[in-house]
Amino acid sequence: MHPMLNIAIRAARSAGNLIVRYVDRVDRLNVTQKSYNEFVSEVDQQAEDVIVEVIRRAYPQHGILGEEGGTRQGDDYTWVIDPLDGTTNFLHGFPQFSVSIALKHRDRLSQAVVYDPLRNELFTATQGEGAQLNERRIRVSRHHHLRDALLGTGFPYRFVVDVDAYLAIFRDLIVSTAGVRRPGSAALDLAYVAAGRLDGFWEFGLKEWDMAAGSLLIQEAGGMVGDPEGGDRYLGRGDIVAGNPKIYEALIEIIRPHLARLTADRGAPAG
Ligand code: IPD
Ligand code: CA
Ligand code: CA
Repeated sequence: MHPMLNIAIRAARSAGNLIVRYVDRVDRLNVTQKSYNEFVSEVDQQAEDVIVEVIRRAYPQHGILGEEGGTRQGDDYTWVIDPLDGTTNFLHGFPQFSVSIALKHRDRLSQAVVYDPLRNELFTATQGEGAQLNERRIRVSRHHHLRDALLGTGFPYRFVVDVDAYLAIFRDLIVSTAGVRRPGSAALDLAYVAAGRLDGFWEFGLKEWDMAAGSLLIQEAGGMVGDPEGGDRYLGRGDIVAGNPKIYEALIEIIRPHLARLTADRGAPAG
């Protein structure tokens, strides 16, 4: 195993253990509101501290981009960290959340870990070497038609301006697929696409730390990840479409007619 993946795993497990210790005590946590509909607890912050400590001990020269701690400049390597993805679920005792850690070398994703501490499921990938779930190789699903596909998504609950365009896409997809789920941890949703549990996924208005690890998992599992135009600027834009190759193409086809509205609603030009 690549030594940097090993460190990512150690960091993710440490954070996961910490998060699980708080599961029965969520009502006693200090919770603050970061922005509209966006909450952060002391667990998010402590989990990021634990991750950064493990990484810093091994690679003090590397940069860090963490959801809670922001950017810390370093050399050509940057760790992209979401210490607790699915905070709303966590705070409600809804058992679906994860730790997400990716490593970028310049602009290229090289290592990925998404860890579900409640199920003890560890999704890992190294660029060019495939993706695993608990050390067993995973592949994206083989469903080729939307009518057979189970999709994941996330609702645009913070970016209120996108809701109408989002709902138009949602409408088109609920009538043409086997089902749509909104589990509440984008990193884990992407890991499920990599493992073939979901056939595709789309969400708008995400942050780099929600997507970085999950997108490498999908690519290494034989799937496709892109922005809604079918380009590769999803990490910068925050809008992501993913799936096995056939479902990815089908999703882009469905989303494309709504794109103008989506970007117009946001008041910003596409890209
Ligand atoms: C959120 C989760 C959720 C997605 C949101 C994210 P957080 O991350 O991934 O599934 O719909 O857009 O912000 O805030 O719990 O780390
Ligand atoms: Ca997140
Ligand atoms: Ca988070």
